[in-house]
Amino acid sequence: MSEKRLVMLGPPGAGKGTQAQWLCDALDIPHLATGDMLRGAVANNTEVGQQVRPFMEQGRLVPDDVVVNVVVEAIDEAKKTTPNGYVLDGFPRTMRQADALQKVLAKRKEKIDKVILINTPDEVVQERLMQRRSCPDPLCGAVYNVKSKPARTAGICDNCAKTLIVRDDDRPETIRVRQQQYWHDTEPLIDYYTRKGLLAEINGRGSLEEVAGQILIAVSKIKRAANRDSVRRKALEPEGGGDVKDGEI
Ligand code: AP5
Repeated sequence: MSEKRLVMLGPPGAGKGTQAQWLCDALDIPHLATGDMLRGAVANNTEVGQQVRPFMEQGRLVPDDVVVNVVVEAIDEAKKTTPNGYVLDGFPRTMRQADALQKVLAKRKEKIDKVILINTPDEVVQERLMQRRSCPDPLCGAVYNVKSKPARTAGICDNCAKTLIVRDDDRPETIRVRQQQYWHDTEPLIDYYTRKGLLAEINGRGSLEEVAGQILIAVSKIKRAANRDSVRRKALEPEGGGDVKDGEI
């Protein structure tokens, strides 16, 4: 399997985490979610956790340099065991983070293959976040929804039997701050990745399955694009030269 480096973009509660998890299972690549990493750091009261706690409690973005370091470390760690790529969920979220990611990847002669934008209107995400229930165990972290994805036993995690919680930042006033941060800091990335030809826009209003289907189609197009490039390169090669490998999922 060729490498796949994907980014999930979209407002808070659009379904990035849920869809990223399904996609990672389908492609057998790791799910690198900055929200989960930072919540883990807060839960373990690490130095990073102490630094980011006040930002997260208020629904504000944590400083770029902190999150960039966390992500680069996670990418390096993931590469040791699963070299097939990854899905970045919740990163980048500012232009500075996008630039930093681009520089880190360019040094390694790597690139992002696709940015999946789950476009979901504010009123829909607000409702989803109010209905979200999360497993507090950082090793499990399963996410439910009392309406669209209920746990088998109400309030109990299907995977690890822990009592489900409402995330601290899923209160209405904090949701509003997170949405404002998204419009102000993250929305410019839509234009940035569109200009790079990397953006696949998905309608996030549909059911979980409908959204997953759209995402799989968008990702499968990476293969076709890679194949087209390969045919072009082959056509330009001298007789008998070069060994081009096609991308595949
Ligand atoms: P993070 O955890 O990344 O929060 P977020 O972006 O606000 O995203 P969410 O996890 O809230 O939502 P989601 O889109 O993953 O939706 P989900 O799949 O759960 O970040 C938290 C905080 O960490 C930030 O506020 C910031 O402080 C900090 N942080 C993180 N990354 C950072 C960065 N790069 N820079 C700076 N700071 C950073 O779905 C939501 C609910 O809807 C669930 O209940 C789900 O079951 C349900 N649902 C999903 N899809 C559907 C559907 N299609 N139909 C019906 N229900 C659905």
